[in-house]
Amino acid sequence: MTHEARLVPRPGILDISPYVGGEAKVAGIQRPIRLASNESALGPSTKAIAAYRALAGEIHRYPDGNAEELREALGQCHGVDPARIVCGAGSDELIALLLRCYAGPGDEVLYSRHGFLMYPINALAAGATPIAAPERELTTDVDAVLARVTERTRVVFIANPNNPTGTYLGAGEMARLHAGLPPSVLLAIDAAYAEFVNRNDYEAGIALVNRAENVVMLRTFSKIYALAGLRLGWAYCPPAIADVLNRVRGPFNVSVAAQAAGIAAVGDVEALNGARVHNDQWLPWLSERLARLGLLLTPSVANFVLARFPDDPRRNADAAFAFLQSRGILTRKMGAYGLPHHLRITIGTGPEMESVATALVEFMAAR
Ligand SMILES: Cc1ncc(COP(=O)(O)O)c(C=O)c1O
Repeated sequence: MTHEARLVPRPGILDISPYVGGEAKVAGIQRPIRLASNESALGPSTKAIAAYRALAGEIHRYPDGNAEELREALGQCHGVDPARIVCGAGSDELIALLLRCYAGPGDEVLYSRHGFLMYPINALAAGATPIAAPERELTTDVDAVLARVTERTRVVFIANPNNPTGTYLGAGEMARLHAGLPPSVLLAIDAAYAEFVNRNDYEAGIALVNRAENVVMLRTFSKIYALAGLRLGWAYCPPAIADVLNRVRGPFNVSVAAQAAGIAAVGDVEALNGARVHNDQWLPWLSERLARLGLLLTPSVANFVLARFPDDPRRNADAAFAFLQSRGILTRKMGAYGLPHHLRITIGTGPEMESVATALVEFMAAR
């Protein structure tokens, strides 16, 4: 026996560039303005907070492994069969599970060029090969995706709306994408920002899941429901896909706290509507203010904007990021997404939006 064999992970793992989340701290500033992770501007529903607090004395108990009550609440809210819902520790867990279950070595996973980074990361983690399809005007290009489908394609992952671009595909385009895929390819629609969209031609994916056996829709409680810290997401699936995910997921993958707060949040329609109204007011407000400064804005339907800064090193995205950070304002650099000239800015509270707009006026005017 030789002693030369080294311990190595499976092929693909060391090709992963670890996901770097948005920054949360600025040295010397006690409460920075956090616009780097598309978290909620308004914070959680008071009902969700109360439900979370109320269970403190019960955390020695395992959660309901089937998240029965939460799935019932979701089923009722969205008019879908709870048996076809699978809950996860954030939609991130469901992205990983889907790719682990449906793709492996030798398989390809398709996503759009500036799509959410967890798709290529989890494709590699599953041993599969991520393939990026080019976009058109920072929007998923259905024809470009379909042109890259091969015999090895197993999953197509599309965020709709997409993070970080904020753009979306209308129901007709998504249906056209689905129609062009072989039935053996899974179309995973990640609708993390669905609740923010107010466009008549948008459909989160439920209708498509209802009429196809190879489509799944993912949703999250991290964005409009403001429960990112608890980790809660869900998948609406054809029965066969729900069965597969239920075989592979951890038996207690969703915590007691996430289930309790999630049930309360689903029931708090007022909080949901308030968050929508807030976004409808401040998304156009911020977009307009930034456009006035000469920044190029990608039209967003979500709770963030993607702004293109000038190439001039005094005015570029890195300089803007550093300037904002020095003012205690955290935004997100986009180099990892292949967009080094852009910053992504989350819609925060009204005063936070005024602060970021004022700071950027100063930044652009500085000599
Ligand atoms: C498109 C998209 N999908 C999924 C997620 C992950 O959400 P979760 O917190 O539910 O894991 C995010 C978070 O930023 C996202 O932007």
